[in-house]
Amino acid sequence: MHLTPEDIKVISRLVDDLCGIVLDESKGYLIESRLRKVAESSQCKTFSELYYKARYENNAALRSDIVNAITTNETLFFRDTSPFDVLQFKVIPDLIDARAKSPNPRRLEFWSAACSTGQEPYSLAMTLREMIPDVDAWNIRITATDISEAAVAQARRGAYSDFEIQRGMKKELLEKYFTREADGWSVTEKVRKLIDFRRLNLHEPFPCIGPFDVILCRNVAIYFSAEARKKLFERLAQMLAPDGVLLVGASESLTDMGYEPLHHCRAVYYQPRKRTLQSTAALC
Ligand SMILES: C[S@@+](CC[C@H](N)C(=O)[O-])C[C@H]1O[C@@H](n2cnc3c(N)ncnc32)[C@H](O)[C@@H]1O
Repeated sequence: MHLTPEDIKVISRLVDDLCGIVLDESKGYLIESRLRKVAESSQCKTFSELYYKARYENNAALRSDIVNAITTNETLFFRDTSPFDVLQFKVIPDLIDARAKSPNPRRLEFWSAACSTGQEPYSLAMTLREMIPDVDAWNIRITATDISEAAVAQARRGAYSDFEIQRGMKKELLEKYFTREADGWSVTEKVRKLIDFRRLNLHEPFPCIGPFDVILCRNVAIYFSAEARKKLFERLAQMLAPDGVLLVGASESLTDMGYEPLHHCRAVYYQPRKRTLQSTAALC
C-alpha cells in the first residue's frame, strides 16, 4: 500500500480534526506505519480509501481505531519522579492545610487529563494512599481521561506486564498495591477505587467535572498546534479550584500562557495568574 503526498495531506487534516495531533509532511512514515494495519483490517486497498471511509462514512469505530493507532501512549509509573515528590511534599500537604478550614475539609479532586494506560493516575493514587493512612475516610477522587479508547480500557483493567512494572514501579509499592497474575501484575481494588476512568477529547467542551485541586496534563499538548495548546491551557485554568495547581511534562513550559510558575526542589508547577470570578467547572 503506497502513501502519496496527497494522502499525507488529507490524513494529517483528518487526524488534526479527530484529536488535535499535528502531523506535518515529515510524518509520512508515522501515518504509513501506524495506519497500514487499520486500513487492512477495514478492507481498504489504499490510504485514500481509508481517508474517505473515516471522513465521510458515519463510522465511529473506524475513527476510534485511527485515534488509537495514531496516539503515542508512551508512559511509565512515577514518570519524571519530581512531580510526584512535589505533590507529596508540597502541593498536597498545602491543600490539606487549606481544606482543613473549608466546609469540605476532607475533599480533594484530581484530574489526570491524558492518562494513557493508567500509570500516571495509579502513581498518584498510590502516593495518596501512602500519604493519608485513613484515605478511605476522605472524599478523594481522581478523574483519569484519555482520547484513546484502547488506552482507557487498559487503564481501567489495571493489568500490567513485567516490563511495564519494571518501568518506574517501586518494589515496596508493588508488594503493597499489586497482586501477581500469571502474565503480569494487577492493581488492587484499594488503589483502583480512587479513580474514575473515562474517554475524553481535550479539544471538546469539558463535561461537568471539577473544579480540581490538581490537574496533571503532561506530555500531551506537545502534539498539538501552538494555538490549540494555548486554548487548552486557558480552558484548564477554568477547571481549577482557586488555589488549584497544574503540572505539565518535563519538557513543557507554560511561559506566556497566563500561568505563574512555582518552584519546589527540582519541580515546577503552575497556578493561573488571573483568576476569573467563577470557573467553568463551578458552573456545572
Ligand atoms: C505520551 S502520553 C502521556 C501520558 C501521561 N500523561 C504521561 O505523561 O506519562 C499522551 C497521551 O495523550 C493522549 N491524547 C492525545 N491527544 C489527545 C486529546 N486530544 N485528548 C485527550 N488525550 C489525548 C494519547 O492518547 C496518549 O495516551
